[in-house]
Amino acid sequence: MKFFIDTANLADIREAQEMGVLDGVTTNPSLMAKEGITGKDNVMRHYKQICDIVEGDVSAEVISVKYEEMIKEGDELAELDENIVVKIPMTADGVKAIKYFSEKGIRTNCTLIFSAGQALVAAKAGASFVSPFVGRLDDISTDGMALIEQIVTIFTNYGITTEVLAASVRHPMHIIQCAEIGADVMTAPLNVIKALLNHPLTDSGLAKFLADHEKANLPVKQ
Ligand code: E4P
Repeated sequence: MKFFIDTANLADIREAQEMGVLDGVTTNPSLMAKEGITGKDNVMRHYKQICDIVEGDVSAEVISVKYEEMIKEGDELAELDENIVVKIPMTADGVKAIKYFSEKGIRTNCTLIFSAGQALVAAKAGASFVSPFVGRLDDISTDGMALIEQIVTIFTNYGITTEVLAASVRHPMHIIQCAEIGADVMTAPLNVIKALLNHPLTDSGLAKFLADHEKANLPVKQ
């Protein structure tokens, strides 16, 4: 399963890259706003900076909602770097734009997926990725992980090559469950990825190893 980081924060992206676990980045307009990145030129420059840090896919989301504007914006984003994946919302205009980009050989990530039907339509239009939002479904008492399972089953049934990118991942168990189900990709913030490293037995085991080493290596009294 590929690990993407869900942030526009350059320091977090660098840290994940240096950990050696990073396969790509997802951003969205809220994450860009959180970093204070405003205005077209700054947004474009920021995406380019992200692409310079990471060797994998970088999802850059369009702000436009009308087909003609979406394709203009997506074309400009795609020109920035070969690793840019144009992120398109699940709307009628969005699906049309996915078809346009797919025919042009530009990769897309269909975002804001909350049902298997939406995922199937995006895949049929030629999306490279679909992004079902696990955490936001959990937030409204709906099983987000069940949706990942349903989409993976459907795509497997028909040999659909669109990758299932589990998004809105909120805690380490989400990551483990995604891997068990067979999601192609998961995207999560840095703190959630780093939480995978923690285990109290690792901490106590290491403390014991170091204490034993120190005892055995005490300077010999003359
Ligand atoms: C997906 O690509 C989105 O950027 C993201 O995962 C949404 O997560 P949130 O529900 O925590 O905002």
